[in-house]
Formats: sequence, structure tokens, C-alpha cells
Amino acid sequence: MHAGWYEADIERVIATEEQIRQQTAKLAARVAADYKDVDRLLLICVLKGAIMFAADFTRELGRLGVPVELEFMAASSYGQGTSSSGVVRVLKDIDREVVGRHVLVLEDIVDTGLTLSWLVKYLTSQGAASVEVVTMFRKPAAVRSAPPLKYVGFDIPSEFVVGYGLDYAERYREIPFVGVLKPEIYSRPAT
Ligand code: PRP
Repeated sequence: MHAGWYEADIERVIATEEQIRQQTAKLAARVAADYKDVDRLLLICVLKGAIMFAADFTRELGRLGVPVELEFMAASSYGQGTSSSGVVRVLKDIDREVVGRHVLVLEDIVDTGLTLSWLVKYLTSQGAASVEVVTMFRKPAAVRSAPPLKYVGFDIPSEFVVGYGLDYAERYREIPFVGVLKPEIYSRPAT
């Protein structure tokens, strides 16, 4: 169930709170099994969109007894629009060395994959022992792009989605589910 000011702006729901919770638990269980021999997994949350997923996923790993460290990076490719520009800007780097660490990048959404390709290359070049990605949502363009992603919550259509951290012009991040934004919202000038 949901109710809020945003309801009129959402065309349809793509992932409910319950579906997100279930997928998060499944992804965390897979990660816990795959990294059972790793000392301390280094999680890197990609700001800002991934904060909701990172918070839920990290706690899920905690429930499963997986020891982690949590770092934050900000790399932006979208700006104010609704499609990727192809330009990755590093707005905030991590505060610790990744040399020899097993790194798991936490993303909310992979669209063109440009941000991620850049991030994986960057972290690998810094000397990480391994770099994998967990994303809650993946759009079709990313399915076609290499390398294939190991941990994906939902494959979703190529539509503009908001909620659960995902924004349009910094709005809608607080919506607890993910929905398709009505095209009329982003085809008119932002207020
Ligand atoms: C979004 C998302 C990813 C990236 C995916 O971030 O969080 O980092 O875009 O797009 P791509 O696969 O086409 O590169 P955004 O730049 O919107 O910043 P935000 O998370 O701060 O909203």
C-alpha cells in the first residue's frame, strides 16, 4: 500500500516495497555464500541513488553475519536530465585504500553502464583484489553491455523510474517503492 503527494506523478509501480525487500534478501544471501572466505568485504555505495539499497543490503549482510566495511563514492553521469550524458564526474572518492581488498560496488540502477564500467576500471586500477557489482535495477541497455553483471535485483524496462533512492531532478528519492514517472512530468520545465 502507498499513499502520498507523489502518487499522481507515478504511472505504475515497477517494484513494491515487499518485492524490493525480498530481492535484497536474496542478493545478500548469494553474496554471503560467495564471500564466505573473505575477511572483510569492502562495500562501496555509489551516491546518491544507492543509499536506500545500500542501507537495506548492508543490514541484510549484518543479519547473515557477514563482516563488512562501508564506503561512499559519488560519480555522476545524469545531471538534471533523464538520460546518460556519457560523462562520468567523480564528486567524492572513497576514504580508504582498496589495495588487496575484495570490493563490492552497490548501485541502485545500471542504465548505459557507463558509470559502472568507469568505476570498475578505476577500482581495479587502484589495486583491488576483486571488484564486483550489486545493482538493484538494470535497464536493457546494460544487459547488452559487457561485462555481464553478477548480482541484479530486477531487470526493468527502458522507462524513467523513480523512488527508493532514484530521483528526477533530486525529487522522488524518498518514495519507498519504485515506479515509472509519468512522461508529462519530465517533458515540462522543472520547477
Ligand atoms: C545514476 C545511478 C548510477 C548511474 C547509472 O546516478 O545511480 O550511478 O546513474 O547510469 P549509467 O548506467 O547510464 O551510467 P546519477 O548520476 O543519476 O546520480 P544520483 O545517484 O546522485 O542521482
